[in-house]
Amino acid sequence: MTSKYRRLARQLQGQIEAGVWQSGDKLPSLRDTVKQSGFSLMTVLNAYQLLESQGWILAQPQSGYRVAPRQHSPANTARPALHAAEAVDINAFIFNVLQAGQRSDCVAFGSAFPDSSLFPQEQLARSLSRVARHLTPDQQLVLPPGCAELRRAIARRYAARGTEVAPEEIVITSGALEALNLSLQVLTRPGDWVVVEAPAFYGALQAIERLQLKALAVPVDVASGLDLGALADALGRYPVKACWLMSHCQNPLGVSLGAESRSRLLALLREHQVPLIEDDVYAELYDGEQAPLPLRALDRDVLHCSSFSKTLATGLRIGWVSAGERAPDIQRLQLMSTLSTSAPMQLALADYLASHHYDRHLHTLRRVLLQRKQRFYKALCQQLPEQVCVHPGGGYFLWLSLPDGMDATRLYHRALSEDITIAPGRMFAAGDQFRHCFRLNVSLPWNSRTEAAIARLAALARELIQGC
Ligand SMILES: Cc1ncc(COP(=O)(O)O)c(C=O)c1O
Repeated sequence: MTSKYRRLARQLQGQIEAGVWQSGDKLPSLRDTVKQSGFSLMTVLNAYQLLESQGWILAQPQSGYRVAPRQHSPANTARPALHAAEAVDINAFIFNVLQAGQRSDCVAFGSAFPDSSLFPQEQLARSLSRVARHLTPDQQLVLPPGCAELRRAIARRYAARGTEVAPEEIVITSGALEALNLSLQVLTRPGDWVVVEAPAFYGALQAIERLQLKALAVPVDVASGLDLGALADALGRYPVKACWLMSHCQNPLGVSLGAESRSRLLALLREHQVPLIEDDVYAELYDGEQAPLPLRALDRDVLHCSSFSKTLATGLRIGWVSAGERAPDIQRLQLMSTLSTSAPMQLALADYLASHHYDRHLHTLRRVLLQRKQRFYKALCQQLPEQVCVHPGGGYFLWLSLPDGMDATRLYHRALSEDITIAPGRMFAAGDQFRHCFRLNVSLPWNSRTEAAIARLAALARELIQGC
């Protein structure tokens, strides 16, 4: 059930989208909204805070809330149609962008990972050294499905959210990326059609390229998420073998599906008997108070993939798939490809999770990421030229679009020459439909270096637009 404050937030968001409230308009005071809506002050306050965290409105000291500047411009958000690609050829471009972003002297707005200084490095180091000291010879290698303590710890985390997943259903992998790749491989053969999002996390496109699959890219709207009409169209017209989606904090848009869309999505997939691979790496990085339930909670057949890369340590490379009845197939495939996931790392993670520091850490991480995103969002809205749209969403990314017809890859190259990385829109689709867009990682601290980098990025965007 959607909580009251989320319902109210969605109502207000709808009013902003419909133009009832426009950029800069003062919203009714909390007290007036309490009177009009019949909700409690706490519900109204939570709704306003949620909208603020998503960038729809801004809190003004001593004067309530106003609609944030620059919401979605119709010119830039026209929905692309369902896009069918018989072949995906994107890896070379992504490889070059990711390699270039490795330089430690860059301001890494192009990175996919949160600022690693936010991770509990000392506590993890303690767990690692504890494990290393006591590692017995038979613990050196753990074959699939992976370390039992860790699988139990993950199952307990599902249980705490009310989702029943048995440890036997879980396979530990090298990050979520291996979990997702193995899941896709288990479900498909070369030449099969697979549904992905448009824009999509580039890892999905790389996997499709590697496995010689065909991609059906279903549009995702910055505000409402996956276009279920286009999905129905895809499922009706093509023999789809798998669907790879994010229902929460979609990368790169940050949008999450509402409860009704989730149910409709699952009903559609059930109707067409298409298995779902749910990429849920941002499960713990929700805005607001309550963790959203994964689609796996509503349907046992979903292959639910996640990891600790976005919340604990990128380099641990520990993820998992909750694969239900397909767990044995995944294990056999893993054994053939990577043999197993690093045993000492799995044990160290199990040790860390047993210490009960994780939830406290996550609480702080969410708060800091939200504060940072708000700071960057505000600066970008103030400094970028009017023609650039900044689309706020959940998580620690912002999705920006230049005017139609422009190429954000040019902005990417210019920024890179000044030691600033961004993730150009071309990374997120097999086609060219997001060429004018780019993604910024706003998990970095706001300091003189990042402030200067944002100012340069805004100046470069202005030059690019003026030069057109
Ligand atoms: C949406 C999404 N899925 C999966 C991954 C891969 O996660 P991991 O680093 O755990 O392999 C990433 C990493 O950037 C991602 O953004």
